[in-house]
Amino acid sequence: MHHPGTNNKVYNKINSKFEWTEDNFNKIKKILKKYPSNKSQSAVIPLLDLAQRQNDGWLSKNSMEKVAETLSMSYIRVLEVATFYSMFNLEPIGKNFVQICRTTPCWLRGSESLSKVAQEVCNTKIGGTSEDKKFTIVEVECLGACCNAPMIQINDEYFEDLDADNFRKLLIDLKSNKSIKKGSQIGRKSSQPERDFNA
Ligand code: FES
Repeated sequence: MHHPGTNNKVYNKINSKFEWTEDNFNKIKKILKKYPSNKSQSAVIPLLDLAQRQNDGWLSKNSMEKVAETLSMSYIRVLEVATFYSMFNLEPIGKNFVQICRTTPCWLRGSESLSKVAQEVCNTKIGGTSEDKKFTIVEVECLGACCNAPMIQINDEYFEDLDADNFRKLLIDLKSNKSIKKGSQIGRKSSQPERDFNA
């Protein structure tokens, strides 16, 4: 299964450069204060995360070189970390990075139907990016919200208690830039038992 976070190739977009924004540079100064001055390389994960956010959700070669330069470490050490964690994407992704949980609780509650809906609405396969670059869809393992299965993550937000119908509507609304409801789609608070809020 293709996933932009399990890719071992690195590249840049043509003519792309990477320099920290002033805002991120200030964030880096704060991050580095959390570590002893001789252990600043321990900040490689938060800095890769910042670089990915600044670079539209993926890490180009330039951006990882910048992380290495900032932390005075070799590029290969940064690359080792970036290729180890699937949360770091090594190729461009769509505006909405849709991660569909397919582990047992979500699977038992219908995650397969969510994958089908996503492929239909976004008109791309799992691991692919839609032609309009609005969506990249991937399947992932447990995202830690099993109580409200099936669930998915889009960028930094969770969407829970899904079924084929409410997920289809959610994606169509997102496609037309309408606002969408985050969290439980059926009004559940946190992991409240269904019998309590249906009573
Ligand atoms: S199995 Fe889907 S969130 Fe845990």
